[in-house]
Amino acid sequence: MSNTTSRAVFDPDDAPDALPPEIHPISAASVRKLWPTEGDLFRDHLLRLDRDSRRMRFAHGVSDSFIEDYSARMNDMGSIVFGYFVDGEIRAAAELRKLSDNWGVEAEAAFSVERAYQDQGIGSALMGRIIRSARNRGVKLLFMSCLAENAKMQAIAKKHEADLRFEYGEVIGEIIPSGPDYFSLLAEAADDRVGYMMAVLDLSSRLVKAA
Ligand SMILES: CC(C)(COP(=O)(O)OP(=O)(O)OC[C@H]1O[C@@H](n2cnc3c(N)ncnc32)[C@H](O)[C@@H]1OP(=O)(O)O)[C@@H](O)C(=O)NCCC(=O)NCCS
Repeated sequence: MSNTTSRAVFDPDDAPDALPPEIHPISAASVRKLWPTEGDLFRDHLLRLDRDSRRMRFAHGVSDSFIEDYSARMNDMGSIVFGYFVDGEIRAAAELRKLSDNWGVEAEAAFSVERAYQDQGIGSALMGRIIRSARNRGVKLLFMSCLAENAKMQAIAKKHEADLRFEYGEVIGEIIPSGPDYFSLLAEAADDRVGYMMAVLDLSSRLVKAA
């Protein structure tokens, strides 16, 4: 199976606020970082991916038990996971994963959007969150395992054409974000505050449903 290498260079101003206008905006209220206790919601989202999306997400077919184990290790891996929440369920996610014990110059990113929610700009917007978080942690190289047949990921890259440089032909995609600046740090902190409030509301709603 052939794969693709994507090398992308982001403009320092690239951030969700700076996304091209054709990308549908996602309210900060519907996207937030997951809490360490929300591994089960992440697992349920990954299990809901259709067969093809699951294969694209993990670059090969994986079993349910693999996904259960993978999501249970979310906290151990120290990953940052953004969830796109609809009625308390995660319908799309984006992960930023360290490649060693601490955040270094390299990290890995992965995206998943459930079929019914694809092609609505969610993946593109999550890409913006991941780039900003990576930049704020001093990550210089961001790897994405991306199958060559993954036309949607390539379309997302094209939407950032002014800020991206792509190379095709190998296994790993590579993004080179710029360093953090005051505004990117502030924007992530502001989103986190909103995300905290949304997480509390989501938790209350789950408790009410369970009662
Ligand atoms: C890849 C993925 C994350 C993209 O998320 P998404 O929310 O569907 O993406 P967006 O809506 O932001 O953008 C998709 C783009 O692909 C385009 N597209 C859709 N089908 C396409 C096709 N067959 N060929 C080319 N472009 C296509 C859409 O038109 C859209 O571009 P536009 O906004 O310029 O019109 C999502 O489809 C997914 O989870 N796929 C399965 C898992 C996966 O592939 N993960 C990535 C590996 S890390």
